[in-house]
Formats: sequence, structure tokens, C-alpha cells
Amino acid sequence: MKVFITRVIPEAGLKLLRDSGLTVTEWKEKRSLTQSELIENCLEHDALLSVSTKIDADFLNACKHLKVIALNSVGYDNVDVDEATKLNIPIGNTPGVLSKATADTAFLLMLATSRKAFYLHKTIAKGEWGFFEPTTNLGIELTGKTLGVFGLGNIGVEMAKKCIGAYDMKVIYHNRNRNEEAEKTLGAQLVSFEELLAQSDVLSVHTALTADTKDTFNLDVFKKMKPNAIFVNTARGGIHVEEDLKTALKEGIIWGAGLDVTQPEPMASNNELLDMPNVSVLPHIGSATVETRNAMAELAARNIIAGLKGEKLPYPVNPEIYS
Ligand code: 8YV
Repeated sequence: MKVFITRVIPEAGLKLLRDSGLTVTEWKEKRSLTQSELIENCLEHDALLSVSTKIDADFLNACKHLKVIALNSVGYDNVDVDEATKLNIPIGNTPGVLSKATADTAFLLMLATSRKAFYLHKTIAKGEWGFFEPTTNLGIELTGKTLGVFGLGNIGVEMAKKCIGAYDMKVIYHNRNRNEEAEKTLGAQLVSFEELLAQSDVLSVHTALTADTKDTFNLDVFKKMKPNAIFVNTARGGIHVEEDLKTALKEGIIWGAGLDVTQPEPMASNNELLDMPNVSVLPHIGSATVETRNAMAELAARNIIAGLKGEKLPYPVNPEIYS
């Protein structure tokens, strides 16, 4: 059986596939495949291991023969899961293994933003480390502040643990479903969306991008946040409205922002967010550690191997196809 992979992935995943007797083809060009190239390649393979590739209804209908599609991500906003379910194609993702690394990135952005670290680093390179004054380059402290989590799942819980451990922060959250475990173990408190906005000193987004969450953080919403608030998004850029975020920062409606995700990605090099003192931007590196990327590739490979054997995927996104 043959597996097509849309980008180069860590050897840990390739090894599992090859050790299972599968033939693997990786797309090695440093550009995304066009839809027709994707279809052409998939027509010659039995399974697809998809990295950052749009899987829409046209593609799925052209490649109904695929026995499994394994994503190299926990997020599946770029996949038409309903259509895959209709066509009985199992989709797998990589939950859990990237939670700590992604929460590290959120924590890093929170702290870097609170001390203007990315901006101040750039001023040194520009020769602007000048005369010292006690009133310049001032950040804000995090100890005892309130962390508001929008979407308290695996990654949000890891972020909350770090914020409690490092800064004794109070944790509030807004979810569709209550997270009783986090309430018990972290003392997290479920609040309304309005309360989340009004009370958070740091508001960190850890929810999936869906029709419901798209463009949630717009100017009206930023206006309901505290003027000293730091907005952190390591989930998906589509959850905030970038132009509104710029306005909120320029007009002092909120204090700062830390972004690992933007809309579009990559962000243009002349984006004015990159020159703002209280903004930190990273190029979507949430899960980018050696350990986590190996673990993600291994989970994706395990989903492929199970799917090709006709077994239930260990991490299915559409388990309803089995019932
Ligand atoms: C990936 C991610 O790096 O898992 C996710 O949802 O956003 C990241 O871990 C990205 O999706 C590329 O596959």
C-alpha cells in the first residue's frame, strides 16, 4: 500500500510507515501542491498524510478511494470533515502531544509582550540602546493577575498550569462545555464571555477555528477588555480580526498582543504589528520542538497504519463513521 505525504515530515513518522511495509512518497518542493497536483498524486496512493493542506469537498470527491487521511496537526479547520464523513473516509489528527509545546509558546508570547522583549531586542540592533532612564522601557508584571482562557481544553489547561506555577495567576475561562476537571485541579472558574473580557489581564485563545469562533475578537470585543490587557492567540489567526486588533493597540484600548497565528500566514514583512512596542509575533511555531514534531509524525503514522488495515483510527476526527 502507498502513502502520499504533502510535506517533509520527521523520520520518526516515516520509519513507522516503512516498518509497516508501506511505500511512502513525500512532496519535497518548498511550495504547496496545487489542487490538481494533489489529486493527481493521491490517485496513485491509498492514503494521504496531510500537512497544512486544504482538503475540500472537490478534492474528497475526486479521491474517494483514499482509505484514510491523517493530518499532521490537532486542528482540522482546513478539512471538510462533513464531506469526508459522507464519503466514509476516516480523518485522523494529533491531539495531546502538542499541548505542552503550544502552551509554552503562549506563555512565551505573554511574557515577551509584558516586557516588550521582541521590540526592545530590535532597538539594540538599530543602535537605539541609549541613555538609561528609570522611566523608559517599562513593562507590566504578571504576578497575581488574572488569566482568561478562551477555550479551556488540553492546551488551555497547560497554559493555565504554567501561569499558576510561575505567577500565581487566577484562572477564569469561557467554554461551551464546562471543564470540571480543570475546575477541581486548577481552581479555574467558568465565566460568561462578557465576564472573561471584563476581568482578564491576559486573555489567551485556545479554541478551534469554527464558524462560531471566526472573527470573535473584533473591535467591539476589544473595547470590552481592560486597557492593561494582553491578548494572546496561539490557536488560529481567523479568530481575531487583525485590522481591529491594530486599532485596539494603537488607541490603547488594550495594552499588548502576542500572536503565533495570523491571517493570512505568512504575515507580510511590512505589517505594522511588527513595529509596535507591545506586540510579539512568531511564525506559527506552537508545536515546533523536536520532541513534539516527532510525536505528531508518529501519531499521524499510527492513524495511517490503522486506516490502511481497516481498523478504527487511534485519533479519529470523525468517529461517527464507525457507528
Ligand atoms: C501545526 C497546528 O504546526 O496542530 C495544529 O493544529 O497548528 C500546528 O501544530 C500546523 O497545523 C501545521 O501542520
